[in-house]
Amino acid sequence: MNLTVIGTGYVGLVSGVCFSDLGNRVTCVDNVPQKIEMLKKGEVPIYEPGLKELIDKNTEESRLSFTTDLSAAVKEAEIIIIAVGTPQSENGEADLRYIDQAAKEIAAAMNGYKIIMTKSTVPVGTNERIRNLISGITNHSFDIVSVPEFLREGSAVRDTFNPDRIVIGTERKAAAEKIISLHTPLTDNIFVTDIRSAEMIKYASNAFLATKISFINEIANICEKVGADVDLVAQGMGYDKRIGPSFLSAGIGYGGSCFPKDTKALIQIAGNVEYDFKLLRSVVEVNQMQRFGVIDKLLDSLGTIQNRTIGIWGLAFKPNTDDVREAPSLEIVSALLELGATVKIYDPIATNNFLNVLNHPYIIRCDSALDASRDCDAICLLTDWQEFKEVDLDQIGDAMRLPIMIDGRNTYTLKDMATKKFLYYSVGRPLIKHTHEQALEYQNVNIG
Ligand code: UDX
Repeated sequence: MNLTVIGTGYVGLVSGVCFSDLGNRVTCVDNVPQKIEMLKKGEVPIYEPGLKELIDKNTEESRLSFTTDLSAAVKEAEIIIIAVGTPQSENGEADLRYIDQAAKEIAAAMNGYKIIMTKSTVPVGTNERIRNLISGITNHSFDIVSVPEFLREGSAVRDTFNPDRIVIGTERKAAAEKIISLHTPLTDNIFVTDIRSAEMIKYASNAFLATKISFINEIANICEKVGADVDLVAQGMGYDKRIGPSFLSAGIGYGGSCFPKDTKALIQIAGNVEYDFKLLRSVVEVNQMQRFGVIDKLLDSLGTIQNRTIGIWGLAFKPNTDDVREAPSLEIVSALLELGATVKIYDPIATNNFLNVLNHPYIIRCDSALDASRDCDAICLLTDWQEFKEVDLDQIGDAMRLPIMIDGRNTYTLKDMATKKFLYYSVGRPLIKHTHEQALEYQNVNIG
């Protein structure tokens, strides 16, 4: 099939590239010329494992191309995929300006029947809005299909090739059949429904996953007070098939380009029909609070943060991505600077993106986890990169001024940490201190 994908962000680029790898001819369009120039040269504007190899392969085999010429790309395509951003506007609502712009440009370029498939996450009713915009501009016939995307950053290629399900929202049987055949190579689990339900499935899924995370984070906070271990609690809960084991890792809360934005958008969608989504408001509030547990633990161990040197391991909102959008690291580092610390930061790939958002004379960029630990009064592990699981913790402890670690992702087992000399805080698990005196001794070290 001939496909045109509008928008080369995570969703558009990864879906376009994967559809080309399935044998379709795909043109990816973006209105940022620099991005298209990069892609034409085989450079990938986002970090995503496996993506570059697929781009190289499918460009070489002439199934994949990149352009800024939306009009020409629309004319050539049978199916046009809208995958532009729907950022958060000031009141939390999704900002639909890029959707509207894409719809108008598609309509102006149409030269015959097209299927227009929306992959962007859009509030209920948006596909109807797209239909109205297009039919107000062109007399050519078309069908609208909503196919929400569920891929995750960092595993986007794998997720696209192995989806749990494909949701197709449309009122037209013929369009549904065409979109089913496009997705058949990926899975048998294809759920066809009406457009409004498809739009809602995406928000409801993200909101539910965010709820699971905030739920386990609150359980973790209680575990800390009652002396239970949240990892074991989650494991025990997860054996119940009705609950399931995934998305029950306690930590410093969710970040990224989806959960924070989509939860707030759903609260707003509900608000627009005078429904107060109380549960989801609490999920967002709990998530916001959760990241500051790191600061509380630093205060607990160090007494004061003023004039301390704190190492930060991990800046990306999760491993295997260079994305720092809504990353807990941004607020944690800001809080540390405000409290008078010098902050040494290290991330395998996200440091540039981080420094583009937050830079400060008291932030020191480091090239390794060891470098970011040297002479520190404590280190905070904020992203559970594999690399941190493999460091030599004895060497790290020796390089630090005080061997204190606040592990925001429960990266190490308590059994392993019991053999190290760290004063080790994690989330929802007992503190590891070798003697009570050790803890007190750290609090009293002169910070000169
Ligand atoms: C998410 C959805 O999973 C995906 O289906 C949707 O299309 C986009 O939003 P993504 O934001 O890429 O994907 O990452 P995800 O792996 O879902 O993690 C989101 C955040 O939740 C991360 O900050 C992660 O650290 C956190 N998280 C995840 C937890 O704190 N605990 C968990 O158990 C799982």
